[in-house]
Amino acid sequence: MIKTLAFAALATAVTLSAAAFEARAEENNATILHRQGIYKVAAGHMTGLRSILAAKGGPVDNLTYHANGVLTAFQHLGDAFPPGSDKGETKAKDNIWTERAKFDKAGKNAYTAAVAMAEAAKAGEKAETRDAFKTLAGACKACHEDFRKD
Ligand code: HEC
Repeated sequence: MIKTLAFAALATAVTLSAAAFEARAEENNATILHRQGIYKVAAGHMTGLRSILAAKGGPVDNLTYHANGVLTAFQHLGDAFPPGSDKGETKAKDNIWTERAKFDKAGKNAYTAAVAMAEAAKAGEKAETRDAFKTLAGACKACHEDFRKD
């Protein structure tokens, strides 16, 4: 009996969270949530990189983990800004869809920098990783200035 009640309570909790999940999916667009999640992951790895690169010594092995993390995140962006994904809770500016070549170029710049950073980290070159990190951080910022609302 107790078990049945516990199960019923659990089932209710699952149903509620499923409903909450659907409400969230409706209020936002899955494509938007996907790209925002990817950018958050990239930002988390950038924070890890910044602190390791700033420290003397530090957990250098983790440089590869974080550098690969940024690269893998970018590789999973996919078609993150299809037409129509300007509708919902997004900070994407409208010019993403009107200045597509410029936007794609900004993405390519960041991706190229992420590849260079992953290679430098893999080679155990802290100074080169730091340089690549700065280039990448500049590429993130450049795109945000042009294509992301404050
Ligand atoms: C090609 C352009 C571009 C590049 C490059 C780029 N971003 Fe962004 N970023 C955006 C846009 C556009 C948004 C807004 C997405 C939305 O709200 O739909 C965004 C959103 C974000 C967000 C907020 C996510 C959220 O919680 O909603 C973070 C954090 C972020 N970017 C970090 C980064 C970092 C770190 C890098 C570099 C490693 C980076 N971005 C590179 C365009 C870019």
